[in-house]
Amino acid sequence: MRKYARQAEDWSERQYADATAYLSHRADLVMSLGPRLEPGDEVLDLACGDGALAEPLLARRLRYRGVDSTEEMVAEARRRLGPEASVVLGDLNDYEPAEPVAATTLFRAVYYARDRRAFFRHVAGFTEKKVVFDLNPRQYELAGVVADLGAAGLGRVALRPFLIPQTVSLPRPLTTLARALERSGPPARLALRFRFTYVVAASR
Ligand SMILES: C[S@@+](CC[C@H](N)C(=O)[O-])C[C@H]1O[C@@H](n2cnc3c(N)ncnc32)[C@H](O)[C@@H]1O
Repeated sequence: MRKYARQAEDWSERQYADATAYLSHRADLVMSLGPRLEPGDEVLDLACGDGALAEPLLARRLRYRGVDSTEEMVAEARRRLGPEASVVLGDLNDYEPAEPVAATTLFRAVYYARDRRAFFRHVAGFTEKKVVFDLNPRQYELAGVVADLGAAGLGRVALRPFLIPQTVSLPRPLTTLARALERSGPPARLALRFRFTYVVAASR
């Protein structure tokens, strides 16, 4: 995809106002939302972009494999991660790892699934613990997504509002507050009516 080819260099540094805070919070949820991941578990990150999510996942002693369909993103991810992780060129709609993985993730890319229900079914076939992705509830009807997950055998769905802003860097106390607000129920859901996304962890 040409637009991503042009943006590959320093993708995360330019996309996220505070990439470290944003991606480490994302990694915490990959680890803890739904069935917990354990050290040594492998995460398959579809549409991985420059692979920056690998850094906090590796720091949590998970293994990481990235897949992206843009050559320049794959090159950037390999440059960033070196031999610590494997990153390959592939299409999220049909990529299949040689061995099952503990978790499959998909961030800011659910709209690239050609047929969402078929995609979840495909991924469920090689994912042992959970599929984790983000979802904009103003763009997608949650009930329809949950129904597609159920049809793929992923009927246990955990949802968590993700309230760390992408384009604004918060001072540390506000980051702590935003993370606490994510568990607040109605206030968090109110915020989602205007901004932010859910992180979804779906399992059997
Ligand atoms: C908005 S970026 C998200 C990157 C990263 N996951 C993140 O959250 O920063 C979307 C990524 O999806 C990749 N992509 C688009 N269509 C894809 C496909 N069919 N299969 C695999 N990757 C795809 C693009 O190359 C790009 O790196």
